[in-house]
Amino acid sequence: MEQYVIKGGNPLEGEVTIAGAKNAALGILAAAVMTDQEVTIENVPNVRDTRVLLQAIQGIGASVRYIDEHTVAICGGTINPNNDLCVDDEFIRKIRASYYLLGALLGKYNQSKVALPGGCEIGARPIDLHIKGFEALGATVTIANGMIQAKAEALVGKHIYMDITSVGATINVMMAAVLADGKTTIENAAKEPHIVDVANFLNSMGANIKGAGTDVIRIRGVKELHGTTYSIIPDQIEAGTFMVAAAATKGNVLIKNVIPKHLEAITSKLNEMGATVIEYDDSVRVMVDKRLKSTNIKTLPYPGFPTDMQPQMTAALALSNGTSVVTESIFENRFKYVAELSRMGAHIRVEGNTAIIDGVPTYSGAAVVAPDLRAGAALVIAALVANDFSTISDIKYIQRGYEKFEEKLRELGALIEKVETEKDIQKFKFKVS
Ligand code: EPZ
Repeated sequence: MEQYVIKGGNPLEGEVTIAGAKNAALGILAAAVMTDQEVTIENVPNVRDTRVLLQAIQGIGASVRYIDEHTVAICGGTINPNNDLCVDDEFIRKIRASYYLLGALLGKYNQSKVALPGGCEIGARPIDLHIKGFEALGATVTIANGMIQAKAEALVGKHIYMDITSVGATINVMMAAVLADGKTTIENAAKEPHIVDVANFLNSMGANIKGAGTDVIRIRGVKELHGTTYSIIPDQIEAGTFMVAAAATKGNVLIKNVIPKHLEAITSKLNEMGATVIEYDDSVRVMVDKRLKSTNIKTLPYPGFPTDMQPQMTAALALSNGTSVVTESIFENRFKYVAELSRMGAHIRVEGNTAIIDGVPTYSGAAVVAPDLRAGAALVIAALVANDFSTISDIKYIQRGYEKFEEKLRELGALIEKVETEKDIQKFKFKVS
């Protein structure tokens, strides 16, 4: 089983370039099948989640052609709607976001069938709001045999109120509405940068979507969509992860290919913690030369502090001078990694959806297990700080959302390798000692 072995203690220094946004790419790749013409998508992050979704898209009959590592051409024209427009369970089990094909295929063919996504490590993650939106547009949604089936004679635009601000439901319902008859309004819509990117992508295909990035999205249905070439925005969370890693290791890193506006909540918190963050047009520099200060964090929908940065920031706050409080208001079970951080010396008490963190001067190395994607990144940050050896297993989670993670860290001076055997670990230890 692949794992990371890390010898920490080196401040991260140098430059790193951020890849395309995973959570924008997953919506955009699914939406690409909504036209029969070829769509070319650039700056696709080469991570496990996008590769699996592209396999699911091929699985329903669309053609997928890699032009280069980060550019893919998709043509939905080869999909045969008379076939069972079904997204296999294997793809849903691998990545929940395969359920974006539910909205894309329903929007284009008035029918779709997708395996029910289970919950995951961070919470139950129901999809009731996705279903409520599809039903509002006139679809009949049935759940049987572990599958969700959505069918409609015709989809008709409606006023839809989202009880909870949901990224996935906003994207899925937006896709189902772009070819519906008439006008759809999505109230209490999610405003994340990736929502705007999916809306801009659909508009580049001829959709008529206004208001993405605000909490009211207005969609006027069009007859059909056409081909386009589109480049995905940089990944806000990958950028934030490297910003926090630079701060936690008291380094000096220029993070390139970012949209600083998308990073405002992270920048603001790092400033409160005593980091120096310099913003340029498409990059940010993070510098820290002394122990970080404590602060408090509450995760909120964008533009609030992103839940996907909660574990990474907690790993940095666990080193700060003082007591910090982190409140997770989006998911009900996103502190599972705290037990692993505690094995590395962190002093954190979890009470419900709140973590009370008493800062310690540093971490000690340990063998830890990544419970999910962003928690895995947090454990890597802790291991980079510990002036000691650590191993991190279950890195498949990390590989879902970070492209060339260990290579990028090595270029910043980190001593990290992906290994499979105890022998590899000993060789690494010998090499770096
Ligand atoms: C997206 O998940 C992201 N995933 C998550 O990133 C991210 O943490 C989350 O948005 C919040 O920003 C992708 O974009 C692929 P939600 P999603 O619907 O869409 C509840 C990562 O690390 N809810 O905004 O599933 C839900 O349980 C991943 O990249 C319902 O109750 O998140 C949660 O408590 C992890 N019913 C809250 O809403 C619904 O129908 C927000 O979830 C839908 C959601």
